[in-house]
Amino acid sequence: MRNRCPGPSYQEIVDRDAVAPPAILRETSAEPLGDEDLPIDVYLSPEQHRREVDGLWRRVWQIAGRVEDVANPGDSFVYDVADDSLVVLRTQSGALRAYHNACLHRGTRLREAPGRLDRIRCPFHGFTWSLDGELADVPCRWDFPQIEDARFRLPEAKVATWGGFVFVNLDPACGPLEAHLESLPRHFERWPLDERWVAARVERRVACNWKVAVEAFIETYHIVGVHPANLPFFGDANSQYDVWPGQRHVNRMLNASGVPSPHVRHELSEQRVLDVAARFGMARPGTKLAPGGTARAALVEASRARLEHGLGFDTRAFSDAEVQDVIQYSLFPNVVLFGGLGSPLFYRARPDGHDPESCLFEVMLLLPVAPGAEKPAPFPKRWLEPHEKWSDVPELSFFGPVLDEDQAIMPRVQRGLRAARKPGITLALYQESRIRHFRRTLETYVPRPPAAAPR
Ligand code: FES
Ligand SMILES: [Fe+2]
Repeated sequence: MRNRCPGPSYQEIVDRDAVAPPAILRETSAEPLGDEDLPIDVYLSPEQHRREVDGLWRRVWQIAGRVEDVANPGDSFVYDVADDSLVVLRTQSGALRAYHNACLHRGTRLREAPGRLDRIRCPFHGFTWSLDGELADVPCRWDFPQIEDARFRLPEAKVATWGGFVFVNLDPACGPLEAHLESLPRHFERWPLDERWVAARVERRVACNWKVAVEAFIETYHIVGVHPANLPFFGDANSQYDVWPGQRHVNRMLNASGVPSPHVRHELSEQRVLDVAARFGMARPGTKLAPGGTARAALVEASRARLEHGLGFDTRAFSDAEVQDVIQYSLFPNVVLFGGLGSPLFYRARPDGHDPESCLFEVMLLLPVAPGAEKPAPFPKRWLEPHEKWSDVPELSFFGPVLDEDQAIMPRVQRGLRAARKPGITLALYQESRIRHFRRTLETYVPRPPAAAPR
């Protein structure tokens, strides 16, 4: 399926760039995905949530955190997903482990927060395990003659890493992470995310189902409604969406930056496009174009200078598209990763306990570092209270106000879905093809019950 939007396609835009994009950005897909409505009850029903816990969250590889969170022996953090919880830690010998966060005595949650550990001690009665998961101490051991140490090891989930992320899988019989990642490692060869530093990291609760949050970020069809101020310098309706045959977990979109949206009906001068983008911090205010110059070329130059002077990162090996554009991949089930350097973000949405109408939404800014330079210390994760805004976090720079606009719409979608009488959502065939792909894959993990009646 092709983008039939009038105006230049994404590929035609990058064809005019001074430094042409790498082959990876030329890999397009034309697979049509259907036109049927998608059921609404998956965002609302507690039964669907239970099915997702059993069929998805307890079976799928998922990102628990960053490798930086467990950089040193004894470092640990807690990863919660729905009702499940893991203590992820690095042992003294350097191995990564993920233990189910429940005491084998009477079930108490062993850990609540990140911290440096030399053992895991339950706060209730003091049962203690080594970082390798072996039972180390039971107060009044004489009173537990029935406990065999070998059977009192802390149960573990699988752990693996890619791209500087710690992945976990709660299914002891799961396949390897490599199989789950499909083409993602090949696509990210030019943009190694394990070499980035975490320059901002913020999480908050959002009053919507986790799928509403994921789906809000994998199309740019909403720019015209939610971010209209970006239209003068953002190619939204002419974005490229890639859903490749045989790829269940990975899809992509490419959005050109520095060109006006096809929604902009009146002629905008190149200078005007640049001026509006400069107001968003994408170029120095007052930058004047040379005769015949384009806003996109000037913004690419400004981005290269920002990376060079701000971070000491030489962008000469990268195309204009990689420096400027939104190159956004989703990794099933709940993560959005950005390739290139133009929008170096990371999003994750996960269920919040057992409430299908609430999720935890995390954003990271993952900046490149100069080769050989030491990574700055990672930004300590900041939790936003309901009254706080993404734009209250200066480290998120010009992404903060955009996230505030997205933040405002997500609970409104959830509230609207509750009031809906139409049993399904109707998707754009092309621009919302990633949502259809995502939901199709979800159904392979969590099949719809055959008797599900429309609400
Ligand atoms: S519940 Fe953990 S030691 Fe008792
Ligand atoms: Fe948005």
